[in-house]
Amino acid sequence: MTAQLIDGNALSRQLRADVTARVTALKAKGITPGLAVVLVGDNPASQVYVRNKVKACEDTGMHSVLERWPATLSETELLARVDALNADTTIHGILVQLPLPAHIDAQKVIEAISPAKDVDGFHIASAGALMTGMPGFWPCTPYGCMKMLESIGYELKGKHAVVIGRSNIVGKPMALMLLQQNATVTICHSGTKDLKAMTLQADVIVAAVGKRNVLTADMVKPGAVVLDVGMNRNDEGKLCGDVDFDGVKEVAGWITPVPGGVGPMTITMLMVNTLESAERLAG
Ligand code: GUN
Repeated sequence: MTAQLIDGNALSRQLRADVTARVTALKAKGITPGLAVVLVGDNPASQVYVRNKVKACEDTGMHSVLERWPATLSETELLARVDALNADTTIHGILVQLPLPAHIDAQKVIEAISPAKDVDGFHIASAGALMTGMPGFWPCTPYGCMKMLESIGYELKGKHAVVIGRSNIVGKPMALMLLQQNATVTICHSGTKDLKAMTLQADVIVAAVGKRNVLTADMVKPGAVVLDVGMNRNDEGKLCGDVDFDGVKEVAGWITPVPGGVGPMTITMLMVNTLESAERLAG
């Protein structure tokens, strides 16, 4: 292995220790940061995610509320719950776990969340703030990727970053964050003609497609930084990313593992966003 590992667990521990200290300071002023997590239905992966989010709140001293609703909950009822949480002064962050059942318009629900409590950063107001460089909440996964680059002291100015994937949750906000740090950014997707020709030019590659082996060793410039956002299962049922880790680690300069890479950073940045929402309120 030639690549150095960017350890998401270790970095998360560091960042969460800072969050815990700031939560303690805020509590001394009489404000306990609070996160509401809303889960509709019983998607097994979502159940694991929301449990981890609630546990992270407990670990950092924050208040959390987990609302579990049956898959039969109507859109109107869910919108009413969001309204109630918008008005709840003990709650500084609202997260409606996705995916939602098919009969509910997820975008409509996201837009119902007050932008001041949109700690997922999915509201169009948050997206617009990121696009224009205004203050607002950044989506947690790409935000975590930026923290990982910061942790290795990586200077993005003038570098070529290639983002594979164009989702609203990861690919598009990731590209905007890299651009804000003065990287030259290329977004690749299913319509890209020659992905390898793009990635071979990249100093930084973010793989966020949700498909195994999207990035293999022959596609990576020696020394490049590779961030793997994927969460997939291999044939043996083991968790793996979008990157062929065993091959790419022999070529890359830095690489994130799966598990233990970007995954823990997502929840950590959710804690940071929730804390900062409460801090803003505290002035
Ligand atoms: N489903 C998968 N990832 C996420 C996330 O980061 N936020 C929400 N709300 N739902 C998700």
